[in-house]
Amino acid sequence: MKNFTANSDFTISDQSVFETCPSNIALIKYWGKFVGQIPANPSISFTLNHCKTNTSVDFFGNENFSVQTFLSGNEEKKFSEKIEKYFRNIEIYLPWILKGKYVIRTENTFPHSSGIASSASGFGAIAKCLMSLDKIFSGKTDEDFKLKKASFLARLGSGSACRSLYGGLVVWGETPEVKGSSDLFAVKFPDDEIHPVFKNFNDWILLIHEGEKSVSSTIGHALMNTNPYAERRFQEARENFALMKKILKTGDLQNFIKLTEHEALTLHAMMMMSDPAFILMKSGTLEVIRKIWNFRQETDLPLFFTLDAGANVHLLFPNNNENQKIINFIRSELIPHTQNGNVVKDLISI
Ligand code: PMV
Repeated sequence: MKNFTANSDFTISDQSVFETCPSNIALIKYWGKFVGQIPANPSISFTLNHCKTNTSVDFFGNENFSVQTFLSGNEEKKFSEKIEKYFRNIEIYLPWILKGKYVIRTENTFPHSSGIASSASGFGAIAKCLMSLDKIFSGKTDEDFKLKKASFLARLGSGSACRSLYGGLVVWGETPEVKGSSDLFAVKFPDDEIHPVFKNFNDWILLIHEGEKSVSSTIGHALMNTNPYAERRFQEARENFALMKKILKTGDLQNFIKLTEHEALTLHAMMMMSDPAFILMKSGTLEVIRKIWNFRQETDLPLFFTLDAGANVHLLFPNNNENQKIINFIRSELIPHTQNGNVVKDLISI
């Protein structure tokens, strides 16, 4: 896009940079996109505290363009090809990008087998590394612009990655509800519009199924192009966004729970209504949901869930001293539904 294109005023040299970027979990889901990685509806996510990708980039200037990647020390040829293609796509925004050789080493702080999408934190970290190199090569030092452009570039790698560049609650997609929001990059949801009740949450990810997801998000988004309910879904997401904004302001936890779970189930329903249809949940996912609903009915305690496009369940509950009963319940009733007893315990703090 025009604002982010760059002129060829740069000086390259051999450089090494390192960046870290967290993952995020959407409350209002992005599912469906237009050409150029433009989201069909606005989305909002919590950025996680612990699930991160750490990435180092060694750049050797004036060598032939090539990309070599290592994930946790192991060379990943397929990932190298993906990154090479990505770099070629973004040359218009970083005119120096094809003028050297790259060795990229990347590590996730969450287990590789966990099925947690690493594309958000992964592309976030690479985009930050690229902007660090750009700062050195172009001499441009505007930190706000650098962050915004990193979000813009991360989006072109993986849509939801653009939200990982900021902490707290983050919005992607143009909406009249949030000033400055854009389809091209994410922005922070204003902290002063968030009731204290939402500022400290646990996100414990139950690993119901470890390993690769059955459907890539690329295929999932594409299926929305022929889904007969797509237009209604995009409209509903916009309505839900407006509702979420009110809930966040007023601290209406009951409706927050209702809306967050509804969004997760809608994402899965969309996949069930696609052609071909996909069921992304496993039986353990359904059992966990059933038990959470029973638990809430019996105790009135604020334990609820969201899902990404897979079988694992993100358990959300306030991070305070009064949640021992919730934790005991998770241990005795929910963890038995995981494949190997594994839970990734993360936090959301604003
Ligand atoms: O960024 P992608 O293309 O992997 O899409 C991610 C979509 C969901 O995680 C299912 C929802 C979201 O908004 O993050």
